[in-house]
Order: sequence, then C-alpha cells, then structure tokens
Amino acid sequence: MKKAKKKKKDKLWSGRFKTGTASSTEKFTESISFDRRLWSYDIQGSIAHAKMLARQKIISVADSRRIIRGLEEIHQEISNGSFRFDTTLEDIHMNIEKALTNKIGLVGGKLHTARSRNDQIALDLRLYLKDEIKRINSLIRKFQRSLISVSKKNINTFMPGYTHLQRAQPVSLAQHILAYVHMLQRDRDRLNDALKRTDVMPLGACAMAGTSLPIDRGYVAGLLGFKRISENSMDTVSDRDFIIEFLSSLSVLMMHISRMSEELILWSSEEFSFIEISDEFTTGSSIMPQKKNPDVAELIRGKTGRVYGNLINLLTVMKALPLTYNRDMQEDKTPLFDTVDTVSGSLEILTEMFPNIKFNKERMELTASGGFSTATEIADYLVKGGVPFRTAHETVGKMVSYCISKKCDLNDIPFNILKKFSPVFRKDVYKIMSVGSAVEMKRSPGGTSPGEITKQIQRLSKAIR
Ligand code: ARG
Repeated sequence: MKKAKKKKKDKLWSGRFKTGTASSTEKFTESISFDRRLWSYDIQGSIAHAKMLARQKIISVADSRRIIRGLEEIHQEISNGSFRFDTTLEDIHMNIEKALTNKIGLVGGKLHTARSRNDQIALDLRLYLKDEIKRINSLIRKFQRSLISVSKKNINTFMPGYTHLQRAQPVSLAQHILAYVHMLQRDRDRLNDALKRTDVMPLGACAMAGTSLPIDRGYVAGLLGFKRISENSMDTVSDRDFIIEFLSSLSVLMMHISRMSEELILWSSEEFSFIEISDEFTTGSSIMPQKKNPDVAELIRGKTGRVYGNLINLLTVMKALPLTYNRDMQEDKTPLFDTVDTVSGSLEILTEMFPNIKFNKERMELTASGGFSTATEIADYLVKGGVPFRTAHETVGKMVSYCISKKCDLNDIPFNILKKFSPVFRKDVYKIMSVGSAVEMKRSPGGTSPGEITKQIQRLSKAIR
C-alpha cells in the first residue's frame, strides 16, 4: 500500500486515484518499450503545439519559450543517449512530458493544454509514417534502378517464358526482369496514394470532441508541413486507416518480391541451373558439404508471412472497436514497426544481391530452344499465309506429336514432310524456328522484341525518377 501510494504521485493523471497502479498493470500496459521510436515526432509536434498556444494567447510567450527550450534539451538528451526512459511512465508522451516538468517545473504542465494523448499519438504516427513512406519509396526506386541496369545488359539474353511452369515461348531475360520493375512501380503508386490520406493533421481533435479553447489548427498544420487538417474530431482519434493502407500496400510489395525470390530459388537449383547467386548472399549446410543455399531469397519469401500477418493483425484489432479511441489501438505500433523493418531489410538486401547474380546465358538459351517453344511462331507463320489460326494450331500440334514420336525437334523435320503438314510452308520457315527470331518478331506493343524492350526501358526510366 505504501509503495503504491508513493507511485501514485508519479503519474501525470493520478488526481482521481486513491491508490497507485499495480506493477503488473504497469508492465502490461506500457508501450514505451516500443513507441520510443516516435520520440522525435512527439517532440516536433509538441513544439508546434506550444508555439500555437502562445500565438493564440492561450499561454504566455515566455511560458511557451521555456517549454520549447525544455523540449529541445530533451531532444538533445535522447539523441545522445543520456535520456532515461521509464516504464512506469507508460508511453513516449508521458516520458517526455514528465522530463519536461522535471526540467522547467509546473509550467511544463501547460503544454498539454487543448491536447490529449489521443490526438497526440495520431499526430506522431502520421508524422512518422509520412517519413517512412518517402524512405521506403526511395528504397524501392533504388531496387528498380538496379533491375533496369541488369535488364539493359540482357536484352539479347534469351530464356524460356513459362505458363503453368511449362516452357511456353522464348523471351528476353530483360522482359522477365522488367515485369518486376512494373510491379514495383504499382507498389510505389499505392504508397503515394496512401500518403495523401496520411498527410492530414489530427491535432486539435483532443480527446475526441475538440476543445473550447481558441486553437489554430491550420497554423499547426503549416508548421508541421501537413497539407490539410482532419475534419471530424471523432473520426480523427479513432482512425487507423492510414496505417492499414500502408500495411496493405507493403503486403502487395512483399507478394511481388516473394514471387521474385521463388524464381531465384528455382533458377539456382541444379535442375534449372539458370543462375548462380554469389557466395556473399548464400549459406552452406552444416551437414552436406556440397550445398550452397539461397537463404536470402528463402527468407524474403518467408518474411512475407509476417508482413501479411501484420496487416491482418491490425485489421483484427480495429474490426469491432466502437468510436472513438480505445486502448486496443496501442497495438497498432508493433505490426507497423515490424513491417517497416522487414520490408526495408528485404529491399536493401535484394538491391545488393541482384546485381551480383550470374546468369548462365548458354543454358538459358538452350532451354529456351527446347520444348517446342517456337510452336506458336510456326502457327503465326501459317496465319500470315492465310491459314485460319485454329487450323494452324491443329497443324502445328500434329507436327509436335510427330516430333515426339521421332524424338526430334521441330526444325529437324525435313522440308518434304513439312510440306505434307501444310502446303503453305516455304523454306524460310526454318528461320523463324530459332529462339532469337521468335523473340525478335514479338514486336507488338509491350512484346518481348528488343525494340519494344528498349522503349519500355526508356519509359520506365522516366517514370521512376
Ligand atoms: N500509448 C497510447 C497509444 O499508443 C497513447 C494514447 C493513450 N491514450 C489514452 N487515453 N490512454 O495508443
């Protein structure tokens, strides 16, 4: 009891309480162990708020200056590591406010005028997320650039394109890699779109109803660089859509880089032997000396599970919450921070790893020429000679079946036999049976011909700037 009473005095909200908080409750409810990450945004928001309070004559200019100086000192202390975070003070807001009153006395208590932790945490999160969206956006751009530079070197590297994981048609390796650049570009579009709804200033909603004091929310928004202010105080403190949108955009991004990782894993298998990932980005087996495992790619594939989980986590936290703020919402931070860290780490290592992949070009091209991969070309050849596509399809299907029975390739069929399949065939048909010409002829917009790929690279390079 004695101990509890002593603790009661420490709390900034202790007025109506007779006894202190049980230490188990403190331990269970604290968030300072993870929300300290928001410290600089919390201070930035408080400084803007203090400036506004003085400008509106809600507090004196002298008090506002003292508060700001105190906050700046705290900023210094946290930066240089000398600040002591205290779990009994719950969260980042209380830790900073308490340090402020310890420093400048009771006047520090004026900072929380016309403010609540409910709008304060919404502000901290929005400031934090605006920065993170921009930072992650530039990590994606960096990765896109490295993919484009590998593509440029491989416009004339041929490989099999797959459907159903069965060899389908020969393509350029550049076309395959650029497909991912497009996916990443859509990810960036989604992030930029989420940024618009994140860029809304919540301070002034206070606990949830607004305030009777004459605050100037537009001024605070201007100081903090927000485009606009929120329009409904209740929505403001109960909204976490902006975090959910962020987590969802990054889930899609992880889905993309997980698919890429899966391909890198397949391609580096003995069976494919398309690529070799450099030693720095692979690991060995403790029992099988011959092994070189693509662990980085596997872990990106695996970590996609956490990122999806974080999205479902927050959606589930929010799904049945009555308006407005509920403490449940404190649980938004761990999934948010985990996704930020996981996605950043994955993008950084992929950007390092990708340019160091060795492509086994001969093997890729050889594989591209097998599996009757030019069959569609031959059908198109017949179409150009006036044969209806369905008939052409049937004819080439019969040729494939013939080759299977004779254990030969399409271009091994002698010309006199070829003529029996269709009188439209001329000798020049053998030219189009090569992988190179199959690729070269795909000149439809967006197709895999070198010309189209070059245009694609030009457009993408401009778009990702
Ligand atoms: N630590 C809290 C959170 O992260 C801050 C807001 C607390 N508000 C309250 N009324 N308890 O959500």
